[in-house]
Amino acid sequence: MSVDHKQRRLERRRLWGRAQGRPLSAHQEGLVKTLLPEILALPAPLSAFEGKSRVTLEIGFGGGEHLLRQAQAHPDQGYIGAEPFLNGVAKALSGIDAAGLDNIRLHHGDVRAVLDELPDNILDCVYILYPDPWPKPRHYKRRLIQEDFIADIYRVLKPGGELRFASDIISYVDWALARILRYRPESGAGFSWDVSSVQDWLTPYAGWSSTRYEAKALREGRTPHYFTFMKT
Ligand SMILES: C[S@@+](CC[C@H](N)C(=O)[O-])C[C@H]1O[C@@H](n2cnc3c(N)ncnc32)[C@H](O)[C@@H]1O
Repeated sequence: MSVDHKQRRLERRRLWGRAQGRPLSAHQEGLVKTLLPEILALPAPLSAFEGKSRVTLEIGFGGGEHLLRQAQAHPDQGYIGAEPFLNGVAKALSGIDAAGLDNIRLHHGDVRAVLDELPDNILDCVYILYPDPWPKPRHYKRRLIQEDFIADIYRVLKPGGELRFASDIISYVDWALARILRYRPESGAGFSWDVSSVQDWLTPYAGWSSTRYEAKALREGRTPHYFTFMKT
């Protein structure tokens, strides 16, 4: 690893709030000890996905509602999920165990560790669903979507691969759109956003399964926005 790369890792800011909530049940604790080590995404995120038609990464999967439903609907595809919140990981493990899913690999921690291990041009899709909003301007630096993060996502996506981002927080939507659309890599043209009307970003993705955070946003009267950017 280069000195620059090491330095970058050391300088990384923690971007999430809680690492653990209430204590895990005995069943969940058992799964963290037994199932999680068997399905770890690191050190080799793609090792389980030979022969899979597509590979998708979900960043900050929360309780894993969307990740699990996608993996269940597409057994021929591979899914990597990253989430630092232990209770979310434990919940996802319970679902993976109950459904007997074998096409998910998990990273309990910062997704940037997974991105570091992925080769260029390898993923078909990356989901960032309702990232922590960090609504106060003095906390904007903690937002996940930053220039270097966008560069990492661009690098790991295949040409034609999609970055899907959903949020209910208008200031985050503006923030993300500005940064994603102005990103210009040295090779390639950046991300394209193919829209013709407002309905395009108010309509959920095909085959959408809602998340816990989205349900909360809807209960509290906020509007979900769904964006798809294509690597060109
Ligand atoms: C507002 S929650 C949304 C969770 C889920 N996507 C949903 O829609 O219900 C944002 C999630 O992103 C996770 N997160 C924050 N920083 C992250 C990082 N660097 N890598 C992976 N996940 C992260 C948080 O732990 C949290 O669970």
